[in-house]
Amino acid sequence: PEVCVVTGAASGIGRACVEQLAFEARTVLAVDVVPMGQGSRPPGPNVHECIADLLDPASPGVIVAAAKAIGCPSILVHCAGITRHNDIEKLTNSDWEDVFRVNLFSAAGLIRAYVPEASGARNPSITLIGSVHAKASSGGAAAYAASKGALAAMTRSLAVELGGRGIRVNSVHPGAIDTPFLRSSARIARPNDVEGQVRDWAEAQPLGRLGTADDVAKVVRFLVSSEASFMTGAEVVVDGGLLATL
Ligand code: NAI
Repeated sequence: PEVCVVTGAASGIGRACVEQLAFEARTVLAVDVVPMGQGSRPPGPNVHECIADLLDPASPGVIVAAAKAIGCPSILVHCAGITRHNDIEKLTNSDWEDVFRVNLFSAAGLIRAYVPEASGARNPSITLIGSVHAKASSGGAAAYAASKGALAAMTRSLAVELGGRGIRVNSVHPGAIDTPFLRSSARIARPNDVEGQVRDWAEAQPLGRLGTADDVAKVVRFLVSSEASFMTGAEVVVDGGLLATL
């Protein structure tokens, strides 16, 4: 079978991507540094777990080998991401490094290992989860925003480079999505009133609510499907209208 590799699979958007792809009876390799656990919806028999730390330079080889052991690596969805929302004076060099290593460099390493394997697949694609921070900013997230802006630029470059090999490359830019990541960002942004911060982020989106992880995962499911076979180099915003307000 064609294998979908999803990073950041244990939580939030990555987990929802695993579930959406598995629901379509696709074979999924769910990659995370922590186990998926049962969650609210059990992952199902066509989901294979791969525990790997993307910061480990050996991880791309391990992940691609695990995908080849169950089929042909075809689809790569990079959801793993971290943030260090903070003022510029508080962002340390190691904050900058951590954010770039997980959000950008790990994707680049994985793509390098994946591309030679995917060229023969039926509808190969790479989908990178960016952020509205790649496009606009409310401040206080310089390292995170820079890493996501770089991810968007990498998407465009790779789409051009890999188009001739039939590999589509797109990025998805979520607004405020209800996941553990959002709450930890809110704790940094407004430690004394986390719920107030989350509410403000929800209200800033014209649809008046937080997105759900499924809202994003369903768009990813479409992007990797044959329905989207002429889409590459696209930056798809899933933000309840947030960027339209700016
Ligand atoms: P989350 O924190 O719920 O899940 C992220 C997953 O990535 C976790 O399971 C974590 O263990 C995994 N991960 C982190 N570092 C790793 C490493 N070194 N190796 C392997 N796995 C690692 O986060 P969420 O909200 O699902 O975010 C997914 C992506 O969406 C991230 O790239 C994030 O930047 C992006 N995003 C999220 C938004 C939100 O409001 N939740 C908004 C915009 C973008």
